[in-house]
Order: sequence, then C-alpha cells, then structure tokens
Amino acid sequence: MGETIRLAVLGGSGVATPELIDALLHAEGRPAMHVALIGRTAEKLKAVGKVCSRLAADADPPLTISTHTDTREGLAGAQYVLNQIRVGGYRARAFDETFPREFGIPGEETFGPGGMNNALRTVPVVLELCRAVEEAAPDALMLNLTNPSSFIQYAISRYTDVNVVGICDSPVWLMGAVAGLLGLPPEELTIRYSGMHHFGWVTGVRWQGRDMMPDVLEKVAGLPGLPVEAEIVRAVGAIPTSYFKYYYHPDRMLAAQQGKPARAEQLLELEARMLADYQSGELDHKPESLEKRGAHWYREIVVPVMLAHANDSGKVFVVNVTNGTALPFLPPQAIVEVPCVVRRDGFLPLAYDGGLTPDLEAMLLTNATFEMLWVEAIVEKSYPKALRAMMLNHLVSSYDQAKSILAKIWPEA
Ligand code: G6P
Repeated sequence: MGETIRLAVLGGSGVATPELIDALLHAEGRPAMHVALIGRTAEKLKAVGKVCSRLAADADPPLTISTHTDTREGLAGAQYVLNQIRVGGYRARAFDETFPREFGIPGEETFGPGGMNNALRTVPVVLELCRAVEEAAPDALMLNLTNPSSFIQYAISRYTDVNVVGICDSPVWLMGAVAGLLGLPPEELTIRYSGMHHFGWVTGVRWQGRDMMPDVLEKVAGLPGLPVEAEIVRAVGAIPTSYFKYYYHPDRMLAAQQGKPARAEQLLELEARMLADYQSGELDHKPESLEKRGAHWYREIVVPVMLAHANDSGKVFVVNVTNGTALPFLPPQAIVEVPCVVRRDGFLPLAYDGGLTPDLEAMLLTNATFEMLWVEAIVEKSYPKALRAMMLNHLVSSYDQAKSILAKIWPEA
C-alpha cells in the first residue's frame, strides 16, 4: 500500500502516547504514517508531541507527528481515529475507584457503580467528539480504548454514524497465560474466546488438531493471576478474564481495597514524573517513567489490529464489535468481544463455538441488558432507566442501595 496513513489520536496528550509511537516504530509491515495528536491542554500536548517527534525522527518508512488543540483540524482526512480520552483525568478515576466502597461495593473504573459513573461522565463527551469525526473524517475507522470501553462503543454505534471497533489487551493477556500454562508458543494454538469487554472467557484451546482444554482445566490452578478458584473454572469449563474476581468475590475485593489509595493515585504521581521527564530536555529514548507505566496495549493489540486492517490481512484478533448474530443468545445491537477476521472492509466474527454453559450465557445477557440500559439512561437523561440499570448491576443487591448510589452520582436525583 503506497499511501501515507493518517491516524488522529483523541486524547493525544495522554502521557503514555509515546508508547504508541514506539509500537508503530517497531511494527512489521507499517506503511508511511502521519500521527495527529489532538489534546486540549496546549502545554501537555506540546511536551508529549515533542517526545513523540524525537522518537520518530529517523523512522523508515516515515512516521511524522503533528499536534492540534483544534479537534476538527487534527481529525481532517484521518483514515484511523484512536479514542483514548480520559474525561476528568486520573482525579475522576480515583473517585470511581473509591466512592463505591461507602456502599459496601469495590470500586473499579469499568465494573460496578465506578464504571457506571465513568460512563456517565464520558459518554456525552465522546458523542460530541463523534460529531466532529462524522464531519471531518467520515470514512475513518475509530479504535476505541476509552473506558468503560463497551459502554462507550455502544453509545457510539447506537447514536452516531462513526465506524468503531473496541480494543482491549485483556484477552491477549489471558490467551498468553493459557499458552504459558501449556508451555506452548501462543502462535501455535487456536484459542476460542467469547464474551464482552472485561466479561469474557477462553472457551477452547486446540494445538496440532488436538483439544487441549482438558489439559488446561487440569492445570488451571497454576494459571498466573487466576482471578477465581479453579473449582469455578472447572465447573463451567471456561477460563474467565481477571475482572470476574469482582463478580464472584466482591466481598474479598472490597476488603482488599479498604484503607488503600486508588490505583489512579499512583498513576497521578507517575503522570507527574513522566511529564517532568518529557519537559526536562531533549529526550530521544523512552524514559524509565514511561517504561514503568507499562502501556503494553499499544504494541500488543492497538497497532497490530490497526495494521491488520490497513493491510487487509485476514488475521484473527479478539476485538469488540456490534453483535449481530455472533453470540446468538445476545441482542444484535449489544457490543461483544469475540474473535474476528480482520479485513479492510470490516471485522467478521467467527461463528460461535457454543463454548459457554447456559449460566454463563445468562450472565452475559444480564450484562448486555444492563450496559445498554445504562447508556440509554445517560443519553435520554432517563431516571427510570437509570434505576433499572442500577438494580441490574452485578454488584448492586437492593433497591435501597441502588437509590443511594444514584443519589450520589445521578444529576438531580
Ligand atoms: C488493561 C485493562 C484496561 C486498563 C489497562 C490499564 O488493559 O483491560 O481496561 O485501562 O489495563 O490499566 P491501568 O490501571 O494501568 O491504567
């Protein structure tokens, strides 16, 4: 492909953005590219943009960088738009990670009331930005990283004309861990995965024509970072992503969080160090503070999926797409996380392998219904829908609890 690809980054002044540039520099099969970083805070954008430009200075094929505080200017002519905005910054995330504790619920930015409040704050801003994408880059593919990812994606796909796919490294991590457990290279395995964002399972593993799932289940207690008991995993015959610790063990997660600062507090400190490093001189390498941020999702999934799309590769990646009939027990409009063949003309889900037990399918239906209802409540400003969604959330157990949480976060409740 001879053209120069233009990628616009919403939230381009995020301090981890140089890791995106590094991932592009090390990617195989990258065409010439221009990356337009869009940010609201001119000073932060300038500091991040300068490091990105220096990292990309000798790139071959060329990789050029520009910075824009004007959103439409930055978006103009983009073939790809990466959405990584964080509304309210890490301060707002710290609130999401802590306020649910007062209701006896663990806090997290994608799960439970914390994730709901994140969506409440973020959905209107993203929809506004999508209007700019519709005008300035109507044919672009948006890659969404912004959390809570599938709420955001559902809002985009339901209420705008923007073409969007959701990207998360958590399935990649889980599939890598399963390969490690078997002592086999991940590229030799065919791994099946089904679910939704932060709510999915590995349902099948094949190697050289053999069904390896019995071996995986036998050894599963040794899986690094196994979020729940091996007994649960063996009972359902599928390996859950790490977020199921909130579903099965909300009490333990809450106890572990009590008295501790939010993850976002650490990230705030790190962000300040990274910015100071970026502003300290003529950096032509990644500073240690950036390495410490560990923003591995760019090289593990964001860049590979974007290039697979640009190069019409036909490779399979687990990504988030509008369901259609991919998981036949879920509504067609729901956002699902499934393996898809990546082609320039779209993301084609593999046929469902039936790998989830009826109870897991039911959990997914609840999750999809809850998520869609909460987004509709936000966009329609509907308190009755907000109440229904809050009462359907996995971590909320009563009407009284739902009412008090809404009194805290819902405008004019
Ligand atoms: C994983 C999760 C994402 C999260 C990211 C960074 O990729 O799936 O939802 O944003 O980790 O987490 P951190 O706590 O480092 O911001």
